[in-house]
Amino acid sequence: MLTQKQLEESTTYLKNRGFDSPEIGIVLGTGLGKMVHEIKDPIEAHYNHIPFFPLATVEFHSGKLIYGKLEGKKVVVMQGRFHLYEGYDHTDVTYPIRVMHMLGIQKLFISNAAGAINLSYKKGDMMLIEDHINLQGGSPLAFKNVAEFGDRFVDMSEPYDPEMRKRIEEIAEQEQITLRKGVYVSVVGPQLETKAEYRMLKVLGADAVGMSTVPEVIVANHLRLPIVAVSVLTDECDPDNLEPINIQEIIAIAEQTEPKMIKLFKELIKTL
Ligand code: HPA
Repeated sequence: MLTQKQLEESTTYLKNRGFDSPEIGIVLGTGLGKMVHEIKDPIEAHYNHIPFFPLATVEFHSGKLIYGKLEGKKVVVMQGRFHLYEGYDHTDVTYPIRVMHMLGIQKLFISNAAGAINLSYKKGDMMLIEDHINLQGGSPLAFKNVAEFGDRFVDMSEPYDPEMRKRIEEIAEQEQITLRKGVYVSVVGPQLETKAEYRMLKVLGADAVGMSTVPEVIVANHLRLPIVAVSVLTDECDPDNLEPINIQEIIAIAEQTEPKMIKLFKELIKTL
């Protein structure tokens, strides 16, 4: 069961290491970890060393929180996130969001790698998430003592901050960076989708599909934390011409696109 005391212990550990009132939290998705090299005066905390953090799986040994300055603002960055497909539950995958909130962040930036369901979008494009569909079969707010942490029935009429969305769109235009817009649907994974599933997701109104983000966004809304979220589209989910998935290629496309994502996030920080 999630308790305030656990969150306080995690937060105290980080504060004692020098994580001093960060203003912005940033979650880096698969293949999108290089942004950490831009952080000035970094202080690192490995997930495995932070009290009450979910215990990292082998695959995930490099996960860490990094505190420092980006464009003059104090930030805390998650290099690597927890996924449901690794066997964590909804409370685990969102625990770091609650900790970053307790550290003091006032804004949350999220990135992820996703497949393009909208076939007018191409791999290597980025997509600003405007809304989402939760197909992960659960909620990070479905626990007994949730009322100790905020409302149970959280409003989701505008889960992604309109003001930051507007700003990031303006930045993309100024920088001549293609930024699509659309609906992200979350699935558990880790298996990829069948052709029939891709057809279904399109009918449901999704533009992109991925295995993360939505639980984090739900919790951030619970905490009334304004969010901006960007997907890097790493593959085209065309049910009529579906090629076998190539994870290496997905990571390579994310890495190639990453500099543009870093640019958008850095320019957005400058406006805050
Ligand atoms: N499906 C689910 N998750 C993904 C995909 C996909 O096609 N591409 C990248 N992450």
